[in-house]
Parts: sequence; C-alpha cells; structure tokens
Amino acid sequence: MTVITGAEIFVDGELRKLDVAFDEKIRTIGRNLEGEERLDCSGKIVLPGVIDVHVHVRDFEQSYKEDWASLGRAALSGGVTTVFAMPNTQPPLDSVARVRDYRRRAQVSSINAYVYGAITRENLRSLDELAPHVDAFKLYLGETTGQLVISDKKLHREIFKIVTETEKVLAVHAQRGGDPDEVTRYEHDDICYVLDLAAAFDTKLHLVHVTTRRAVEAIVEAKKSKIDVSFETCPHYLFFTAQDREERGAWLKMNPPLATEEDREFLWWALGEGLIDIVATDHAPHTIEEKSVGYERAPAGVPGVEFLPPLLFDAVNAGRISLARLVEVCCRNPAKRFGLPKGEIAIGLDADLVVVDLDSKKTITREAVQSKCGWSPYEGMTLRGWPVMVVVRGKWYYPLTPGPSPS
Ligand code: NCD
Ligand code: ZN
Ligand code: ZN
Repeated sequence: MTVITGAEIFVDGELRKLDVAFDEKIRTIGRNLEGEERLDCSGKIVLPGVIDVHVHVRDFEQSYKEDWASLGRAALSGGVTTVFAMPNTQPPLDSVARVRDYRRRAQVSSINAYVYGAITRENLRSLDELAPHVDAFKLYLGETTGQLVISDKKLHREIFKIVTETEKVLAVHAQRGGDPDEVTRYEHDDICYVLDLAAAFDTKLHLVHVTTRRAVEAIVEAKKSKIDVSFETCPHYLFFTAQDREERGAWLKMNPPLATEEDREFLWWALGEGLIDIVATDHAPHTIEEKSVGYERAPAGVPGVEFLPPLLFDAVNAGRISLARLVEVCCRNPAKRFGLPKGEIAIGLDADLVVVDLDSKKTITREAVQSKCGWSPYEGMTLRGWPVMVVVRGKWYYPLTPGPSPS
C-alpha cells in the first residue's frame, strides 16, 4: 500500500488535510495512515486524475503526428490520467480488429485508454458486433479531419436508432464545415437538429466541442425536457476568439472554429454556474510543417491535452472558477457520463490522482511540449498551478518519470 501524506486531499467537495492510502484502488482516507511506501506531499493538493473525453491519438498511419507513447507522456505531464480516443484515425476505428489493435497499442502508454468506435455506411448494420469492444460511438455530421462524415438525414435516424440499442453513449460532431463565421452562426441550428434526434430515439447523446452561447442555452433547455444529453467545451474556446484566429491564422484553425468574445465570456460564466458538463481538449495534433502552409491549406485542429489541467488550475488561482467546479467538469462528470469507477477521491474507486502545486508558476514553451506535434497554441502563457506527480491505478509518476509499482 502507498500513502500520500502531508497534503490537502479533495474529498466530498472540499480540500481536507488527510492521508490517502491506495494500491490499484483507493483503500483508506484518514489520519496517520500506515503503508510500506509513503509519499510526502506537504504543501500540495491532491485531486482525482483528470479525464479527457476527447483526444485524437493518430496512432496507425498518422503516428508521425502523435502515437500512444507520446500522447501518454503528454497526458501524464499535465495531470491527465484517462483519455477517450477518437476514431478518425487513418484507417478509422470502424472494426473489431482495428479497435483491438488500437487498444493493444495503447498499452505502451501508462494512462487509462478508452476508445470511441467509428460509424460508417459500411459498418452501420454491424454496430452491435463492434459495441462490446468500444466505450462509446462517435458520429461526424460535419466535414473535419478524416473521412467519417455522414450527411444523409435518413441514415442519421437509422444511426440514432441502432446506437441507442447498443446502450452506448453517442458522441456527435454536430457542427457543419465551411466558412468559419457561418459555422459559428449555425452551431445552434445544427445542435438542435441532433437534440431532436436524441429526443426521438431516447439516445444517450454527448455533444462535442460546443462553442456558442446559443448552442449551450439550447442544450440546457433540452435537458429540462428530459433529453439524455451531455456536452463539452474545450480550453481553446475559453482562451481564444475569432479575433485571435485573425491574428494567428492556421495555428488557431480548428473545427468548429473559434467564436466571438461574447461567446467566450459566456462559456466562462456558464462554467462557473455549473451549466457545462465537461471540459475536454479535442487534442488534435498536426505537425508544425502541416500548420505552416497558410490558413486555407492547413489541417484543422490544435493540441491541448497536456495543458488542460494547468490552464484550469491557473483559472482557479485567478478566481475564475472554483476548485470544486474544476473537479466536476474534468473528473466527476466525465466519469459519471461514461460509467467509469473514477473521477473522485473515494474509497473503492480507481487510484487515479494528480498532486498539484498550486503555487508553482511556469511559462509554456515549445521546448517543453510533450506531444509529438511539437507545438502548443498556449506557448508564451504563464500559468500558476502545475501537477508535480500523478498516480494511475496506483502506480505513481513524477511527471514523465515512472515510480515503483505499489504491488
Ligand atoms: C479534429 C482532428 O484533427 O482530428 N480536428 C479539429 O479541428 N477539431 C477533428 C474534430 O474533432 O473534428
Ligand atoms: Zn469534431
Ligand atoms: Zn476532435
């Protein structure tokens, strides 16, 4: 058994000066706990490990952008202990064999890896075979990286019906592609279209990367009419706007595009109010070379997995959100929505933890980026609050340095 001592532990919604003892699971929370291995974390706080439900790992043919080893290092260095990998890989995660291969590759990383299954015209009628091998399904309604977009409305209905029968969460990229201002303008309509489908088929719907005030308000309204929907926004929509894209071009090109300052301010407000279920990164690595060819030709997507926790720790320090809210949108809600025995520091749950020095201050530099893509849209930002150690199912790591196994 390993014991973290001296720290303040986030339990039952608040920080408390307690020890936590764990092997693969959290076993005891209390005072003066015994254990063969003691980790003195005085002056630090301990939170549940962060769960990022939206990352693109790129293993298979695009592993030059990212693979499971580099993604795992990036995640750990930031305090992310669990990721959900999107299926728009090359080739996509549309069959049992591919998903098995992907999970096998994921084992080189030290993090918890979950996988979305792709939905295509070809595999649609055999999704029940794929279902036991994936953790959720993903549907693309708008053009984006990969070739998974499905625009036939009759097929949408069939997909919602079939996925609902599998009882898996259906994550949907609802926003259309095209001119950035137009995508932003129509996000609300595109999301309402999907909410209607979820209502008609009683689907467990998760809307990815929501950017606008009107879309958030529509989802909040839909929840009142008992539609089983959750949604995420992403750090880039909290920190940047279309104005920044004007200045920085392809480096801030992503789907859906950055919205307005009003939308950005609204997202922070909604986060504070508890209206946003999940913050996920949509970590979408593309190389420096690929991003250097001008806005039109560059691929859409920005990396983010390693900086999500520090960006939000800094926001806690700045008084923008409470620590409790951070834990809710980054740990508790993702775990609840996707049915994981994680997301809180509570006896019996998986020992996924992040030890944070809320006072440590660092500037994000390109050199420090762990993602294989080698850059970050957050370069140059100075943040206060950084992880100093992570624990994944009982195994502890100083960021990037494996510690001894507890067993
Ligand atoms: C993502 C990618 O590159 O895989 N890009 C993006 O701009 N968000 C795809 C996606 O999430 O739509
Ligand atoms: Zn998307
Ligand atoms: Zn994505």
